[in-house]
Amino acid sequence: MSNTTHLTPPGKSSGWIWVQSDLQLAQPGRAISVLGNAVQDAAGLDIRIDGVWCLGDALCGIREDDLDEVAMASIDLLESLGVPVVYLLGNHEMDVREKSGRNVFPIFNHTAGRPGWHTQAELDDFFFERMCFGTRVCFMGDHADRRPDGTWFVQHHRVAGEGYPHDDSSWNRLRDEIAGAVEPVLTVSHYAYPGGQRPGELIARLLPLPATVITHLHGHAHIGDMVWNREHPYRRENPIDGTTVKQYNISALEDVRSAGSHTAFLRFENGVPVEIRTRCHIERRWVESFSIGGAGARVSPND
Ligand SMILES: [Fe+2]
Repeated sequence: MSNTTHLTPPGKSSGWIWVQSDLQLAQPGRAISVLGNAVQDAAGLDIRIDGVWCLGDALCGIREDDLDEVAMASIDLLESLGVPVVYLLGNHEMDVREKSGRNVFPIFNHTAGRPGWHTQAELDDFFFERMCFGTRVCFMGDHADRRPDGTWFVQHHRVAGEGYPHDDSSWNRLRDEIAGAVEPVLTVSHYAYPGGQRPGELIARLLPLPATVITHLHGHAHIGDMVWNREHPYRRENPIDGTTVKQYNISALEDVRSAGSHTAFLRFENGVPVEIRTRCHIERRWVESFSIGGAGARVSPND
């Protein structure tokens, strides 16, 4: 655990991370335009970010030329910010795998091991950890059999196919590691825990949540999506079943299923995450602010 890679300079305990998810636009021009607008807005803020976290569904669809075009443009746009980038796979990164059985993951393939990028070391890893401002961060994306003739993949944090190698004991070991961490822990995924919106199946294996976990960030359940996120379509702060810890839905960048183009900025202070602010990049305005772990967190409720 002590050898965990640092995302931010060791010893730096305060700062900001830009967290985004669900660009999820199949038309390349639209996707690149929406991400470009968000990057321009983020770069113009007074906030100096020390990293970007992309929580998945950055790509969608099965047209491989289009996927490559969006992937390369996204890499260029995010690298223009000059800070480390974390990338997780979501359910739509599995679109080609689901339809054709082929491992086509353009952003992952271009960024695994690329300087300045942090993602799972292998396609079949079910988590990876980094240190950020003194907090231990556990990232959990979708994943897949790395073999060209692989027999399984995980989409919606649910196993499809045969031969999945990570059983209950794998998840129990991760939960024990998190529970034994000497640092505060933040968990991050494309998916919510049960209690949140459109929760994933595998992530539920981390419950009961270790007391070291301060909060959880996720995407997938696009805010304002009246088709797939109907129950509380505008509620970004939700409980985690069995705990008093809150989880936060930071999606979505796309501007079709949700009204606006939203991301979040996460502030760390003295080694712990303390605040999350959501922003609409179309209206160029802050939408909500939540005090993590604090009482009376919601500043401007809209649900
Ligand atoms: Fe998703």
